[in-house]
This record gives sequence, C-alpha cells and structure tokens, in this order.
Amino acid sequence: MKRVAILISGGGSNMVALADSMNGDHPARPVLVLSNDPEAAGLAKAAARGIPTAAVDHRPFGRDRAAFEAELLKPLLAAEPDVVCLAGFMRVLTPEFVEKFQGRMLNIHPSLLPKYPGLHTHERALAAGDAEAGCTVHEVTPDLDAGPILGQARVPVLPGDTPDTLAERVLVMEHRLYPAVLRRFAVGDRTPVYLP
Ligand code: GRF
Repeated sequence: MKRVAILISGGGSNMVALADSMNGDHPARPVLVLSNDPEAAGLAKAAARGIPTAAVDHRPFGRDRAAFEAELLKPLLAAEPDVVCLAGFMRVLTPEFVEKFQGRMLNIHPSLLPKYPGLHTHERALAAGDAEAGCTVHEVTPDLDAGPILGQARVPVLPGDTPDTLAERVLVMEHRLYPAVLRRFAVGDRTPVYLP
C-alpha cells in the first residue's frame, strides 16, 4: 500500500478529492496532510477523515526558505511517504527540497501548462482571449510548474466568464483529474490522463 502525504495551504478541496478517492482497491492511502498555515481550513477536513495532520507556519522564517523547509521536512519524513502531492500548496520549494522527492512528488496547477506557469492563470487566459482553459498535474522538478505532465483537463471559456467563474469550472475538473492521475502514479503508470 503506497503512503501519500498531501501538502496544502488553504481550503484543501483537492486534498479532500484525493483523500476520498483512496479507498477500496485503490493502491494508496493518505498518511499525512501538512500545511504551511496552521489555520488552513483543509486541516480540519483532514482530521475529520482521521488523517494525521501537521502544520509549520512559514511566516516566522521570513525569507529563509531553507530554515522553513528544514522544519517542514520533520513531520513529512516522519510520515515516510512514497508519494507527495502538492494540492493548493502556495509556497515555492527550493531545488534542494524538491530533489529529496523528485520522481515521486506531484502538483496540480490551474492552467494548461506550459501556458501560464505561476499565478493568476485564469486572469491571463481570459486576457489572452483563450477559447479553453484547464488544469495540469505534473511531476515536480526544480523548475517551477515545468515538470513532466501526468494529466490535463480542459474546460471551455464561456462568454462573460470572470476569473472566479472560470476558476470554479476548472476546480471541478481538478477534483476529477488529480485522483485519476494519483491512482495510475501509485502503481508506477506514468501514462498521462486527459479529460474529457
Ligand atoms: C485552487 O486555485 C486550485 O486551482 C489550485 O490551488 C487552489 C486551491 O486549491 N490547485 P484547494 O481547494 O486548496 O485544493
């Protein structure tokens, strides 16, 4: 049974989708939900599911990423994860941290990478007049939002869309895509998932 740690920063809706998918004959189980924000609403959702939780507040560390990550590693390594899923995790990780998990760390990004790495993806898609948008699950490498793609889901951009209405439509697909990718990844299958 593969052990999955999930890193969150906020509501954790992707974490919930992942956690709730790991049951029955699924080859993985969640063993830790870890946040950089002790107030993250997702922590209560994880605890309600009986999943161990931990939080390391990044703010006291200021710009010292290495010191923050040294603390973050403690509960993470203690959980002995086989796979680490970044799910709405909003901190940039150093190459040193990434390299500890390279090849077994995934992230979900709310754009059709390689378009729109970084922030404000929906605003940028709308400003560009794109006919479609979506989300991508990729392996995490030291280059931000640039690792091998493991899945993508597309949604139409509709007339009158705002960043919020587009984000809402994409989020629904994130909750389908990430579990589908994790189920394959947990058995070593890196065949990309494309939705619809
Ligand atoms: C969402 O914007 C999602 O697109 C991105 O992270 C944000 C929060 O996700 N992946 P979650 O609800 O905390 O999973």
